[in-house]
Amino acid sequence: MSQAHSLTLRFLAEPAHVNFGGKVHGGAVMKWIDQAGYAAAASWSGDYCVTAYVGGIRFVQPINVGELVEVRALIIRTGKTSMDVAVDIYAGDPKTRTHRRCCHCVMVFVAIDPEGKPKPVPRWTPVTPVDQALEQYAARLSEVRKTLDLEIEARLKWLDQQPPEVMERQ
Ligand SMILES: CC(C)(COP(=O)(O)OP(=O)(O)OC[C@H]1O[C@@H](n2cnc3c(N)ncnc32)[C@H](O)[C@@H]1OP(=O)(O)O)[C@@H](O)C(=O)NCCC(=O)NCCS
Repeated sequence: MSQAHSLTLRFLAEPAHVNFGGKVHGGAVMKWIDQAGYAAAASWSGDYCVTAYVGGIRFVQPINVGELVEVRALIIRTGKTSMDVAVDIYAGDPKTRTHRRCCHCVMVFVAIDPEGKPKPVPRWTPVTPVDQALEQYAARLSEVRKTLDLEIEARLKWLDQQPPEVMERQ
């Protein structure tokens, strides 16, 4: 199998994926995102990878049982050992071959060597103007993440300092 920077999983949404509202469960969607993202990252790097970050998952539209689901994962930026992977989920009626975007997110995977340490990955060089725009999008998200991470760390530190009886009431 040759090295590719994109990968698509296709399958039907099954009754087992449904939530109490009759639509596909958010947890099932998150599992598909992780599986496609991992497959794209492992395929690009040629190594085992771990999820370093997943956030900002945007559930745009619900998915119905019986719809054909396409989970597209695309390497949009590489660092030294990390890969930013955009994952988009589309769904539609297989009979009409139409589909709509249902979910979007950008995840970060890190390649891992046999000793469990981060390992350098092949560089992804954007080719088209769309590739370049997506790489800039990933860089911008990374900047936003740094600010958010600082705020989350400060909040966790503050929560850890609260007396247990105060936390039990939250
Ligand atoms: C991800 C992990 C390997 C990073 O290890 P680390 O000791 O922090 O390694 P480094 O500081 O050298 O960072 C390695 C890369 O990860 C990136 N990274 C680490 N934490 C990150 C985060 N929260 N968000 C985005 N990228 C992150 C770094 O930017 C770096 O990228 P680069 O080499 O391209 O510049 C480690 O935190 C880990 O094992 N986390 C748990 C992963 C896991 O259990 N995932 C769920 C199941 S797969």
